[in-house]
Amino acid sequence: MKLSRLSLFPVATEINSQGHLAIGGCDVVEVASLFGTPLYIFDEQTLHTRCREIRSEFEQRYSNSVVIYACKAFIHPILVSLLNEEGLGLDIVSGGELSIARAADFPMDKVYFHGNNKSQKELEIALEWGVGRIVVDNIYELHLLNQVAERRATTANILLRISPGVDPHTHRYISTGVLDSKFGFPITTNQAEEALKMAISCPHLNLLGLHFHIGSSIFDPEPYREAIRITLQFAAMMRQTYSLELQELNVGGGFAVAYTIEDPPCPIASYAETITSSLIEQTRELGLPAPQLIIEPGRSISAPAGVALYTIGGEKEIPGVRHYVFVDGGMGDNIRPPLYGARYEAMVANKAHDKESENVTIAGKFCESGDILIHDIMLPPLKAGDILALPVCGAYSLPTASNYNGAPRPAVVMVKGGESHLIRRRETYEDLIQYDIKRVD
Ligand SMILES: Cc1ncc(COP(=O)(O)O)c(C=O)c1O
Repeated sequence: MKLSRLSLFPVATEINSQGHLAIGGCDVVEVASLFGTPLYIFDEQTLHTRCREIRSEFEQRYSNSVVIYACKAFIHPILVSLLNEEGLGLDIVSGGELSIARAADFPMDKVYFHGNNKSQKELEIALEWGVGRIVVDNIYELHLLNQVAERRATTANILLRISPGVDPHTHRYISTGVLDSKFGFPITTNQAEEALKMAISCPHLNLLGLHFHIGSSIFDPEPYREAIRITLQFAAMMRQTYSLELQELNVGGGFAVAYTIEDPPCPIASYAETITSSLIEQTRELGLPAPQLIIEPGRSISAPAGVALYTIGGEKEIPGVRHYVFVDGGMGDNIRPPLYGARYEAMVANKAHDKESENVTIAGKFCESGDILIHDIMLPPLKAGDILALPVCGAYSLPTASNYNGAPRPAVVMVKGGESHLIRRRETYEDLIQYDIKRVD
């Protein structure tokens, strides 16, 4: 089934009487002229809708489910507060993300701290601030955390990140549960068992369960079934050998979203059905008590809520070869296309009804030939000043944005009920040198 381009935009997107795109009741062309471009718009209603849909699909099938949002997809204090309102927890991967969550008064006991190289300082603040779970990734961290907890005369609640050896058939940069990965303890090499034995023997660690994350943008839910089967078999063996009771099972994130009209993913309900049914069946078969189920989606919550806006500038047409059209952003605010060949759709916000009659390639303004946002897309005839809107840009673009080529990072706006609010101001040229020491005598 092919989707329509409009359906990739946030939930309440429409084309208004002027033929302009309107998101959250706001005319996109007006928003662009008010705040400038490149600009990222987040639609508040879409964020609420995604949180509710994911919670409901899992909770109706498995009541002891907890949904936590993976902040790496996009983090902002207002988003963190919204997630709290929606009853979600948070997956953070650094002291920096943790401090943003804390600044937004997010309840620390609902925070899960991931990462393959947490520093002593990060572990110290995690314990000081009362982070709910620390997901231990390697032996070095296991010992370090035990020592930090001992010095603080406390016990850290932990999950062990294991690597189940399942290939989710996604891009290798976002495939994390295979044997050759920097994350987690592999089961097949017995390193998971070694780590578990050690964790149980550490007096300042309280091992509550296991975690895996097999990858991101996983279109077919079946690899989750396989990973759950392998992990629960491991848990059953560990129960027999070390009397470990698996209280919590965190199956990571990774649910795919549609970036283009060609690639509709399966609905959240299918992921929920596969994950919960395999958990129920496998625990029953293995005689294990049913653990709490934790899922940690990032992309599937924030990506569909975000839209990137660019202004069209110059162009270069090479007869019989290619028609490049240039925009005022590119790989500095969205590295995904050059990094792993990510594909996007676009609409011209001020020509939303016009016929898509020209094949163009949308290139950014950065000094790299690879700075192409979209290869070969049919769009209405474009001219300088038109506003190009790329849907599904709310995950992994802003958090990976850079100042490459001295580009100030874009502003971010939240829209809702016909109002647009600036939630992150555009960087200025002064910002570019704010951390630099101007003179060394
Ligand atoms: C441990 C962990 N959990 C959750 C996620 C979120 O994945 P996604 O944004 O694809 O849902 C990631 C992403 O890399 C991750 O590494």
